[in-house]
Amino acid sequence: MSDSASSISDTPNNQNPQNQSSGRELWSSRMVFILAATGSAVGLGNIWKFPYITGENGGGAFVLIYLLCIASIGIPIMMAEIMLGRRGRHDPVTTMKKLARESGHSRSWGLLGWMGVIAGFLILSYYSVIAGWAMAYIPRMASGAFQGLDAAGVNSVFTTLVSNPEVLIAWHSIFLFMTMMVVARGVRGGLEKAVTYLMPLLFVLLIILILYAIDTGHFSQGLTYLFNPDFSKITTDGVLSAMGHAFFTLSLGMGAIMVYGSYLPSKTSIAQASISVAFMDTLVALMAGMIIFPIVFANSLEPSAGPGLIFKTLPLAFGHMDYGTLFGTLFFILLVFAAWTSSISLIEPAITWGMKTFQISRTKTSIIAGIFVWLMGLLTVFSFNLTSEVTITSTISTKYGEFVILKDATAFDFLDYLTSNIMLPLGGLMIAVYAGWLMKREYSREELNISSGLYTLWSFLVRFVAPLMVVIVFLNAMGVVAFVRTIMGV
Ligand code: PFF
Repeated sequence: MSDSASSISDTPNNQNPQNQSSGRELWSSRMVFILAATGSAVGLGNIWKFPYITGENGGGAFVLIYLLCIASIGIPIMMAEIMLGRRGRHDPVTTMKKLARESGHSRSWGLLGWMGVIAGFLILSYYSVIAGWAMAYIPRMASGAFQGLDAAGVNSVFTTLVSNPEVLIAWHSIFLFMTMMVVARGVRGGLEKAVTYLMPLLFVLLIILILYAIDTGHFSQGLTYLFNPDFSKITTDGVLSAMGHAFFTLSLGMGAIMVYGSYLPSKTSIAQASISVAFMDTLVALMAGMIIFPIVFANSLEPSAGPGLIFKTLPLAFGHMDYGTLFGTLFFILLVFAAWTSSISLIEPAITWGMKTFQISRTKTSIIAGIFVWLMGLLTVFSFNLTSEVTITSTISTKYGEFVILKDATAFDFLDYLTSNIMLPLGGLMIAVYAGWLMKREYSREELNISSGLYTLWSFLVRFVAPLMVVIVFLNAMGVVAFVRTIMGV
């Protein structure tokens, strides 16, 4: 592969001596891998989702738990997932089967890959709709529609947008088409290069917005909300969401990072790459929080406004700052780019698996997958308008109390809950168990190639801390922990 190319199609590559046996192209350099993995990690999860779920869960305590999860579960599992991908050098299903065979375990580990394929599919169905909202804001920003509007005015622009299914479907279709185009070509050199410039630009815009947030006079109130934990505000479900979000934001638990790892040259340090990606991802999320909450408080808005939060707050900032039209337009363009580089990684596990299983071309697989994702996306589109009243509530009642699993959840809420809070942590748990307990230690040692002290730390986190935390948080959300505590009288 040439130096500058970062294509990752499955064509044979004879130029790379490390990889002749597997016939897969590799990333041209460590930097390209970090860029691509950061591109996957940094997306709507950081700028759209992190602020609104923080607001729904009362702020500081949620943020603290989220940060703890990133450090103790996220980074070690990211290392494990990249490592499995690089050792397997295939799609997630085949990789898991191959590794299981290599270490003498059951082929049912392929199920882990399967769950990832399905999770990516489901996430992309709603991700594309929300990215469509961001796209819809570009012409509105550019035409100066938000100039001088107050909170009520901005709110009504958002409400009008989401209550119109045709418009949402149009933007969802455009975004999904853009995603499938890149995926179908299998060569993403152009996009990755663009990201080299766009990411720093996004960063600059976030800094400009932080300056605006400071100017609102409510910056310290925003910081207190974000960083001063008040544990009385956190629920068991909030803890589950914080953990689920750690997986979502780092693109973990569903094979996306595993597929990216499968293109990683053998010499690259997995630990360094994982830490850089997690650091940049967390930084972007915290910056988004530091921007949104001061604006929320300065305009007496509700932090718990839900999925529309950034669409109701950021235009207020742009509508009142110098060059707001320019910065606002640029911001939403960059947000769409960030979502784009994430969405291609969401569907990549399904594509690599589909091509291999049905022996059809990348293009055909992409078209078929695109049609299914598009149809599934309609569920999310309608849950903000036509079917917004159709909700489910799910509770488990025991002698010791009633545990609410889902409350008045629309189809979108349900999809989000199922994927982020259940499927990704479950996938992550399986990755941790496989990498920590079942994979031969000589293999993981060889792949990670870190000092023995660091290896012991990683091994401890991946064998004990991460699995136990995931299991406890699951049991907690299901009310089992409360149940046990009640009968034991503690
Ligand atoms: N990490 C992405 C974000 O924060 O927007 C979303 C995502 C991408 C999740 C890829 C999972 C994934 F495999």
